[in-house]
Amino acid sequence: MRHVDELIARMTLDEKIGQLNMITANFVITGPTIAGDSTEGIRAGLIGNMLNLWGAEAAHAVQKLAVEESRLGIPLLLGFDTVHGQRTIFPIGPAEAGIFDEQIWESTARQAAIEAAEDGLNMVFAPMLDIARDPRWGRLAEGPGEDTYVAQRIGSAKVRGFQGSDLSAAESVVATVKHFCAYGAPTAGREYASVDISERTLREVYLPPFEAAVKAGAAAIMPAFNDVAGIPMTAHRYLLRNVLRGELGFEGVLVSDYNAIAELLNHGVAADLAEAAALALKAGVDIDMMANAYSKGLPEALRRGLVSMPEIDASVRRVLSLKERLGLFDDPFRRGRKVSLTVSGDSPSRALARDVARHSIVLLKNDGLLPLTMERRRIALLGPLADARSEMNGPWSAAGQASDPVTILEGLSSALPDCDIICEQGVSLSEEDRSAIPLALEAARSADIVILAVGEGARMSGEAASRSSPGLPGCQQEFVDAVLDLGKPTIVLLSAGRPLLISSIVERASAVMATWWLGTEAGNAIADILVGRFNPSGRLSVTWPRELGQVPIFYAQRPSGRPANTDDHYTSKYLDIDVTPLFPFGYGLSYGNFTVENLRLESGSVPVDGQIIMSVDVVNNGGVPGEETIFLFLRDPVASVARPLLELKRFAKARPAPGERSTVRMTLPVSDLAFPGLDLTCAVEPGEFEVCVGTSADPKQLLRTRFRVTSGGGDQISHS
Ligand code: BGC
Repeated sequence: MRHVDELIARMTLDEKIGQLNMITANFVITGPTIAGDSTEGIRAGLIGNMLNLWGAEAAHAVQKLAVEESRLGIPLLLGFDTVHGQRTIFPIGPAEAGIFDEQIWESTARQAAIEAAEDGLNMVFAPMLDIARDPRWGRLAEGPGEDTYVAQRIGSAKVRGFQGSDLSAAESVVATVKHFCAYGAPTAGREYASVDISERTLREVYLPPFEAAVKAGAAAIMPAFNDVAGIPMTAHRYLLRNVLRGELGFEGVLVSDYNAIAELLNHGVAADLAEAAALALKAGVDIDMMANAYSKGLPEALRRGLVSMPEIDASVRRVLSLKERLGLFDDPFRRGRKVSLTVSGDSPSRALARDVARHSIVLLKNDGLLPLTMERRRIALLGPLADARSEMNGPWSAAGQASDPVTILEGLSSALPDCDIICEQGVSLSEEDRSAIPLALEAARSADIVILAVGEGARMSGEAASRSSPGLPGCQQEFVDAVLDLGKPTIVLLSAGRPLLISSIVERASAVMATWWLGTEAGNAIADILVGRFNPSGRLSVTWPRELGQVPIFYAQRPSGRPANTDDHYTSKYLDIDVTPLFPFGYGLSYGNFTVENLRLESGSVPVDGQIIMSVDVVNNGGVPGEETIFLFLRDPVASVARPLLELKRFAKARPAPGERSTVRMTLPVSDLAFPGLDLTCAVEPGEFEVCVGTSADPKQLLRTRFRVTSGGGDQISHS
């Protein structure tokens, strides 16, 4: 810290603002280059950080410029969107979330950190922890799905994976947790639109994942683009300063989103860049990503008395301290010293990618056609995603190459060398061209079995990819219908960044699998499931709607005063469709057959400072080894504020051998039952609770039992 203070004492105002400035690199066809105008800016100390520049050589060149040619020689933060992988691309967020395994979540972040650091980076803009409950919003594809508890667990696993135990290590990078907060609840699912939610929902649903990431040591956080009830997050003093820094204890660096400070003018809360810069700085935003609002606006804001020098210094101190923690002052070239990686066929990162990808696949329907047996000799593999290499990388391919992924055709061909596989696209991803349909139908007619690879293009989800009606794009639905009309045994593979509206396909196809975007090893992972080399175990991290009219849809709804009842007109339901989802949260089939039974608690009565210990038996009735995910939900039937119908509190895996039973035991401290009460203070309210345990959030299959929390004196216990 002394070093940092000494540096600050020697800095000019321009150099201080330079440390708060982050500028993007230019790209040429062969990769990133230092933007022409950044070179002079770095030399002059006006650009202290960059994004979008990767590759050891480029990173070292720019770092050298900063260290050797700027007056104070301060190294740069070099950040990049390593959202689901750096060179090796792993499955997208909601797919990986559906594995429900912290070790896996951490391992992909670790591998991504190693690769990012080998690419000379010291910061990633990840993990993305935005809860998403509306599939119109394209960024559902980047995040942890719909559930707060899952997002908490992913948040801490990812921070551990990216940052390691020592941030200064050559293989550690800063995790920038994003987007703080409630970005996933924009009006009508429209990207960048306003969010208007209650403080209770913020505290119950959207803040806890960030709190978990802060507790795990997250060194940076990115405020979201959106406003919350009229206050843009980039300028949200209450949420950033009082809540994030004050209550949650975040001491790291706040990095604005891309150009977000300048966009305060569009939001209508600042008249010029000086006002915008002052609003953001006073809210505690340290680094201005790409708006040049601090460099252009802060000197004027200082003149007008809108900000003070100590406020600027506080941000500079946080940025320099982070550089110090990263070990950049000791050795700015530590990262990127190893020779660049490849993701060649036999690299260990590919093995990890394949394993994670096959764990992510969710088997939604199977009438017994899967797994494929070797007797099927002729397979028609149809659809725009059958042989679509670059699409497999999904929306944030970072430094992953378009040529790296294994296609579905390749995966299947190597898994079934003796089968005759005819591949026809039939239709494109989104165009209305029907001319190739007859050829594809011909192929289907001649085959024993049809596999349809349909869905979205990688850029149809992710940022700025809201869709008003997320069904199959273009004329894919028509194509699928025509294939299904042939009456052949048909498997549908759905690649997409969100749940798609596919009710009729699920009704008619023999088997359906959600294959999301699986990354570098997509084709092999899909083939592993199709041929039964791997027993599917992926589960849905998001509730899957039947129809668009059901969104936002999520399992943790609050009860209605008039619960749905088809026999009673005046109840909470739809006249035209069933109120239930197509598939509930947690849903997913396997090739086995598990049953869950014998739910029991260690005690029916627990004091507020005690813990609930639950056990349940899982029986493998099938003939194959496999894995079942057990969810422990909680229901607080009577409380001062209506509680959700179900709240996920724990999950665990069971792997009983065929014909065997295993016991799953989960422990829950009573303090985990705390919630924001009438005055928004978090506390446990003693009384009766229900434990609901099962393999998904489908209320019909949950085992339930009750317990009582007894007060140890007063009526409530505070939860810090
Ligand atoms: C996105 C962020 C991303 C940033 C830098 C923005 O448009 O919202 O998630 O980290 O760009 O690429």
